[in-house]
Amino acid sequence: MPPATTPAHVAIIMDGNGRWAKQRGLPRLEGHRRGAKAVRATLTAAFEAGVKYLTLYAFSVENWKRPQDEVGGLMGLLNYFLKQELKTLQKNKIALRTIGRTDALPADVRKELAATIKATAHHKERTLVLALNYGSRTEIADAARAYAEAVASGKQKNDEASWDDFARHLYTAGIPDPDLVIRTSGETRISNFLLMQSAYAEFIFTPVLWPDFGKDELHACLAEYARRERRFGRTSEQVAGAKGEK
Ligand code: FPP
Repeated sequence: MPPATTPAHVAIIMDGNGRWAKQRGLPRLEGHRRGAKAVRATLTAAFEAGVKYLTLYAFSVENWKRPQDEVGGLMGLLNYFLKQELKTLQKNKIALRTIGRTDALPADVRKELAATIKATAHHKERTLVLALNYGSRTEIADAARAYAEAVASGKQKNDEASWDDFARHLYTAGIPDPDLVIRTSGETRISNFLLMQSAYAEFIFTPVLWPDFGKDELHACLAEYARRERRFGRTSEQVAGAKGEK
């Protein structure tokens, strides 16, 4: 059993692939290729450490603005990753889920995603969530539309609505909120990632560029998380008291 201080849900903004490549005089896509290797290493290490949900910000709604060859390269990498990693997902009993407007992704990627999601849907212990064509504001707009439809059809009573009622319409429905959000590459922004879901998350901003991230860097983040005190609005004394009662 992992210690109670292990976050159940870790979400990562994988940043710094471009700079990693530039520092070495390599094309940006080579940075993304090394980034995909870091995904593999981090995925295994996270689930081995007892993490139940790992969410990776792989492509944002804003990333379409990048040069076409980079976008195409990223889609190709994703396709390749899905084909390569199915064995790992099955062996480690990991289900794949996506969040984002995946219907706008290229047909071959959609096909590979659908096949992988279907093939791993029976795994209930661990979930890899890929944020693809994801943006928090788009998610909230989509949820508001779905919520309004539920009210109009009588499925939802608006005057009794709670946050949980609304959250059922987010892409993340059924996924617990992230406990820990990590951003690599020294940038200290959230960049439209899980804005509502990370309301009580701990944040770690590490200077490590994403291609250099892996097992050791993840363990360092988990150790830092274990030292944090999460209060959820209570006082430090109340939190200490609640721990003592257990
Ligand atoms: C940010 O680095 C990274 C991305 C926009 C893409 C992330 C993609 C991968 C890690 C590889 C493919 C993903 C999977 C799941 C196989 P950046 O390019 O913005 O870096 P920079 O800020 O240094 O330019």
